[in-house]
Amino acid sequence: MFSLRLPIPLVKTPPSPSCYYSHYYYYRYRCYHPFHHCSQTQSLIVLKHGSAIAKCHADSVTLHDDGISLAQESLEPLPAELAAEMMPKHVAVIMDGNGRWAKVKGLPPSAGHQAGVQSLRKMVRLCCSWGIKVLTVFAFSTDNWVRPKVEVDFLMRLFERTINSEVQTFKREGIRISVIGDSSRLPESLKRMIASAEEDTKQNSRFQLIVAVGYSGKYDVVQACKSVAKKVKDGHIHLDDINENIIEQELETNCTEFPYPDLLIRTSGELRVSNFLLWQLAYTELYFNRELWPDFGKDEFVDALSSFQQRQRRYGGRHS
Ligand code: FPP
Repeated sequence: MFSLRLPIPLVKTPPSPSCYYSHYYYYRYRCYHPFHHCSQTQSLIVLKHGSAIAKCHADSVTLHDDGISLAQESLEPLPAELAAEMMPKHVAVIMDGNGRWAKVKGLPPSAGHQAGVQSLRKMVRLCCSWGIKVLTVFAFSTDNWVRPKVEVDFLMRLFERTINSEVQTFKREGIRISVIGDSSRLPESLKRMIASAEEDTKQNSRFQLIVAVGYSGKYDVVQACKSVAKKVKDGHIHLDDINENIIEQELETNCTEFPYPDLLIRTSGELRVSNFLLWQLAYTELYFNRELWPDFGKDEFVDALSSFQQRQRRYGGRHS
């Protein structure tokens, strides 16, 4: 049981294929085996998954970061079956199936979430490589607070540690991170980590990762309604001024230039939106995939994007 990492020469590669984006001339080539392997001895499980090593005790996982981050990974050329000019600007993902992934391996849900972070890292790298501007991921729903405390506590720690371990890379790589959702129930240390990561990356515009934590679409609409009502009460706007635009300005996705996902991907075979971005999904193309989130990789993402590029988006009108 091992994972293999070899030194990576930094190579300057000319930008000849049109599928590369002009500011990505420098590629780092990494000999890296994303290798998952688990062995279990009574209650102790040692899991190696890509860059992360986790020790699982019964129903929880202790995290050890080894410093692997997005910038150290090579950027991917655009696959031939995808057209650069038809890429979605904003992709949203319901990262479902972590628990089932862990269960089939005899592991606790926390191991599935830990493995899910690796899939998310890969997605960020692919989005950056292929010119997608925004990725919004559903990391924790307001409806997830009812899960066992050990799982909720694990997820909160996982969010904090992942943001902490990636923020320097995000700063360097021009990636902005934003977190949406009701933060009132989050641990104070996580709130501080989010505030500082958002502040440190707010000027970045190459790519934006939006993480929905303590989020639900209904929550978002309610908080937007409250903001609009307060503006009416304070005399800043008149009741008759309220329209879709006014409400949209108050939704939490106002943190991005592209608030409406072009494509929503849900993994694990479930065919539901599950209280995600309800208002924002009005004209989003939906794509459902049977893979469990930790198994969702490049091939599956290419299939989703390829399906998206074959859709006719009419927005209620007629296509000529
Ligand atoms: C759904 O799977 C997944 C979650 C509730 C959590 C997803 C979180 C991550 C992948 C970590 C992301 C980290 C950051 C920093 C954004 P499930 O447990 O509901 O799966 P199941 O339906 O198979 O039980």
